[in-house]
Amino acid sequence: MRNNDAADIVVAEDVTGPAMAELDQQFAVYQDATLWQRPDELADAISTARALIVRNRTQVTAELLQGADQLLAVGRAGAGLDNVDVAAASELGVVVCYAPVQNATSVAEHTIALMLALLRRIPQADQSVRQGQWLRHEHTGHELAGKTLGVIGLGNIGRRVATYAQALGMQVIACDPYLSPDSEVVEQLSCELMSLFDLLAQADVVSVHTPLSVETHHLLDCDAFQQMKNSAVLINTSRGSIVNEADLGEALESGQIAGAALDVRESEPPAPDSRLHTLGNTVLTPHIAAFTTEAQNAVVQAVVADVTAVLNGEVATNYANFRRPRFRC
Ligand code: MLT
Repeated sequence: MRNNDAADIVVAEDVTGPAMAELDQQFAVYQDATLWQRPDELADAISTARALIVRNRTQVTAELLQGADQLLAVGRAGAGLDNVDVAAASELGVVVCYAPVQNATSVAEHTIALMLALLRRIPQADQSVRQGQWLRHEHTGHELAGKTLGVIGLGNIGRRVATYAQALGMQVIACDPYLSPDSEVVEQLSCELMSLFDLLAQADVVSVHTPLSVETHHLLDCDAFQQMKNSAVLINTSRGSIVNEADLGEALESGQIAGAALDVRESEPPAPDSRLHTLGNTVLTPHIAAFTTEAQNAVVQAVVADVTAVLNGEVATNYANFRRPRFRC
């Protein structure tokens, strides 16, 4: 649909896949992949819509939601909800549905890929071969086997990372304020639960898998890096703002820690002149951990199914607040 007048569903970002065609058959869908960049136009587009579908770039604020009288559902095509004001949606009775687990395997696999890329210097070795070099000793790396992995956050992704790392011979330690040491998850994973302070001091590889919130913003800053071993590396596939990037740059340059692999950044896209881009001990990817065909099809399918259910008066399956709209019908 080209024009947003009378759209049932507004899609403000690049959300694609087989499930989107199903949505088109049932509803009047208005999709503009760049709409998230123009909040006024977006507000206008959803003022009469019954559902809004986004990825992570649209800021679904209280103000935006308050102007959408007919809105029944917000569908977030992904797991992180830091760009959606879920409390405001709840106050307005709007269902927030999302995809809490559908991309977890892909993100966990990418996390392991980043660990290997960083510790085996794969991007640097690849680049040197393309430049006509054949350097072997210069690209001597480290094994994961026998190392200690510190997982911050044992949710859907952290648990998978822990399991894959154990299969590679790593010992896993973890911190998660929402779990107790005798919880089933911790026992099943046979990993040791400890404080962040202890984890940072003991881990050879620290991997972040916690949502972004007021509590986790800049959780890893210069104080945290000072706890880490000089030989340790940091992997972040969760949210960029959990790491203070300026402090990370210092820690990498000074040798306080040995390396970092980041899929997510404080600002996305990052400034092209970011100090992290010039360092030899970083591996950087553009927030693609969840971008596999399998994960994206599953994520979009889940969100389309829930938005369809809510608009048809049925209940959502993956929801952050409630299964059906309140006060509105
Ligand atoms: C997620 O939160 O699901 C991933 O980071 C990917 C995304 O933000 O879309």
